[in-house]
Amino acid sequence: MDETADSENPVISKIEEKDASSAIAVAGHPLHAMTVHFPIALVFATLAVDLLYWWSADQFWVRVGVWSSGGAFFMGVAAGIVGTIELLSVAGIRERVASWAHAIAAMMLIAVAGLNWGLRVTESADVLPHGLLVSVLAAIITGMAGWHGGKLIFDHGVGLMVSPKD
Ligand code: HEM
Repeated sequence: MDETADSENPVISKIEEKDASSAIAVAGHPLHAMTVHFPIALVFATLAVDLLYWWSADQFWVRVGVWSSGGAFFMGVAAGIVGTIELLSVAGIRERVASWAHAIAAMMLIAVAGLNWGLRVTESADVLPHGLLVSVLAAIITGMAGWHGGKLIFDHGVGLMVSPKD
């Protein structure tokens, strides 16, 4: 990407001037960044649990998968609510295309995580093959959502705390 051309583009410069600091933070620490670790970890844990079930055929892993997939879904919803408030309420976040790319990937992730949990809460928990396949898909989308979320922080400086001393 030609960054010189971007900095000369009046529309991009105008967006860059807008405040992109976090609206929901605890003592200056954005709550969304604190909550996203739970769905990310639990999505990958569910994939690991499914592989262990495939390998061992031990029903214990089916029960663990119900909890890890449910945790991934509900913590994803919680992180998504905070992220959506940030997205809609902060002009410097709302007007960046990258924020919407992240939001779309994250909403896909939450939908797939919900499906993964839904497959398991019924009596006839469908782990092999459907649960495992959905876990693989959820892991891929988590990578995409997390990558775009990270770009918001590291490339766009969204939600960063800059002390007056800096
Ligand atoms: C569904 C709606 C979501 C929206 C609208 C959203 C929006 C945002 C926004 C605005 C940021 C910038 C930081 C901030 O303002 O706090 C961000 C960062 C981030 N988001 Fe989301 N998010 C959503 C869900 C998720 C989910 C489910 C995940 C889990 C994969 C996630 C992963 C991340 C990551 C990893 C960052 C970077 C945080 C850091 O490195 O400190 N987001 N998101």
